[in-house]
Amino acid sequence: MDTTGTNGNGGDGSRQPVHLPVLLSETLAILELRDGLVVVDGTVGAGGHARAIVRAIGPTGRLVGLDRDSEILASARAALADGASASGAGVRVSLHHLPHAGMRDALADAGLTGCDRVLLDLGVSSLQLDRPERGFSFMADGPLDMRMDATAGVTAAEWLATVGETELADALFQLGDERHSRRIAAAIVAARRKTPILRTRQLADLVVRALPGPARRGRIHPATRTFQAIRMAVNDELGELRRGLAAALDCLVPGGRLAVISFHSVEDRVVKHFLREHTEVVTRKPIEAGAAEVADNPRARSAKLRCGRKPEAAA
Ligand SMILES: C[S@@+](CC[C@H](N)C(=O)[O-])C[C@H]1O[C@@H](n2cnc3c(N)ncnc32)[C@H](O)[C@@H]1O
Repeated sequence: MDTTGTNGNGGDGSRQPVHLPVLLSETLAILELRDGLVVVDGTVGAGGHARAIVRAIGPTGRLVGLDRDSEILASARAALADGASASGAGVRVSLHHLPHAGMRDALADAGLTGCDRVLLDLGVSSLQLDRPERGFSFMADGPLDMRMDATAGVTAAEWLATVGETELADALFQLGDERHSRRIAAAIVAARRKTPILRTRQLADLVVRALPGPARRGRIHPATRTFQAIRMAVNDELGELRRGLAAALDCLVPGGRLAVISFHSVEDRVVKHFLREHTEVVTRKPIEAGAAEVADNPRARSAKLRCGRKPEAAA
């Protein structure tokens, strides 16, 4: 879990919005990439994993990238234009503003009927966290939005204005692992009676005030869990994950591989059970980042990579 902001740093010490792909070499290895494969990157983000995939599948490969966030797709487009020329690969890439559950449509759009590999790298990109106007982070003040697709759905401010106290407390507990979920939910409901909660800092301050003293002094910012839970609820991330896994199974050819990187125990559980039920599990235990990667990229701390192979019999 990381909602603290950028994980990138310009070489000159300046903060630059960079998203470092997590578990990159492990992901490439587990996907067993080779020339000519058709790969769906269902969460293409800034294109970090996608760039490396493009290199690995060579000029005869195809990469179909999807993201719910149209703004971030522009970064992916730039990164992949660069990547293709740097590798000289000239891989055919198509990018789609769609949730990963829409991969069948994206493949059809690219003239394809199925794929050999699917990657889902869940959660939020550092590029999203770094833009205060997107409202994902409490590190800078911004409107309380948090929608991954800024063109659709309900903002976090709108959700917080109407959600019931029990539903809110449950979301904070289940999606944020927040021990003080009831206290925080009660504080939010009391505060919104007086004034609407519209800004990220306003929410972060409210959460801090709601917590007992010791809980304000942890390793992570005291509002981290609340922000994560609200983001996951507003974007229906668990529902999206279930739909995306089903779409992947549907689109993969028999023998094809699905790799998922999750950042939350609830997500990891969903992935583990899905892979057990529907695939030949490749990773008995999830693959996690080593100390060196975590030191370079704090986001990697909670990352878990799992992989399954679509059975031949499921053809
Ligand atoms: C952790 S980032 C992916 C980073 C990417 N692998 C890279 O190396 O740059 C997650 C991305 O998934 C996108 N995303 C989240 N949920 C999604 C969904 N249901 N469908 C498609 N994209 C989604 C987010 O907008 C974000 O750009």
